Amino acid sequence: MDYQPVLDRIHAALQPVIGQGKVASYIPELANVAADQFGMAVVDVAGNVYAVGDAGKRFSIQSISKLFALTLAFQREGDSLWTRVGREPSGNPFNSLVQLERENGIPRNPFINAGALVITDMLASRSVNAAQSLVDFVRKLAGVADITYNTRVAQSEISTSSRNAAMAHFMKSFGNLHNKVGEVLHAYCHHCAIEMSCVELARAVGFLANHGVNPWNGETVVDPSSAKRLSALMLTCGTYDAAGDFAYRVGLPAKSGVGGGIVAILPGECGICVWSPALEESGNSHAGSLALEMFTSLTRRSIF
Ligand code: DON
Repeated sequence: MDYQPVLDRIHAALQPVIGQGKVASYIPELANVAADQFGMAVVDVAGNVYAVGDAGKRFSIQSISKLFALTLAFQREGDSLWTRVGREPSGNPFNSLVQLERENGIPRNPFINAGALVITDMLASRSVNAAQSLVDFVRKLAGVADITYNTRVAQSEISTSSRNAAMAHFMKSFGNLHNKVGEVLHAYCHHCAIEMSCVELARAVGFLANHGVNPWNGETVVDPSSAKRLSALMLTCGTYDAAGDFAYRVGLPAKSGVGGGIVAILPGECGICVWSPALEESGNSHAGSLALEMFTSLTRRSIF
């Protein structure tokens, strides 16, 4: 399918809403990003690229990195991973602490901050430099050699990470964090600070659209049933307490980040990424959510 006319139509239709919402400012460095930007890319499993607006501009992927971290940890740990983190939607904001005490330090899912900290802890137990091993993994997934993190953004988050530090200490008290809190936070904030463009991200999730095989080098990243499972988690947990509404409106597995990016997958067909920095209350990109909703309505392609 030629997705270009669809992307052009979405871009034109969304002009009045681009910039509506709030750019994340709790990580000070992210507050410097101009709100009125918008890019969208579709990369199909044959490698055709369709792009519009700022689709080539790199931005802070933030929580989208949790998808790559989970994939790498799942590759290494397999199903034993689920003894330390759940796979149910949280129904709470991404940075909420409230469920952790009642649920004995086991986070609801790998996409909320607490869950991603546990996943990063797993990566840290198996590599000297967990953030760099994730960067290397993402470079391979996207087939782009110069992807890296922005140290200013990472440092900005580290210096304001009291809330994530509280979660990490709390989980350590339950024995669910094996490495030093400072080390886990350092790795976590660095992988959240990875910068990629829409085109690069749409390529990087190609393995999920392609049933676990990286379309760019033919390597098996995960087996087909694991690809199905990771995608299912994106659908149920990838956009936090808005996941139900997102599934209703968009109907695609997706993962968002407070940098304003959202990646989505049309299984068997393509990876999709949209970026616009101004966010809704839930922490998902406002124009980005609308763009994906328009995409599935106009193309009549979704998982339903
Ligand atoms: O830990 C944080 O708060 C950020 N590094 C990532 C949060 C995020 O992207 C949530 N997504 N919507």
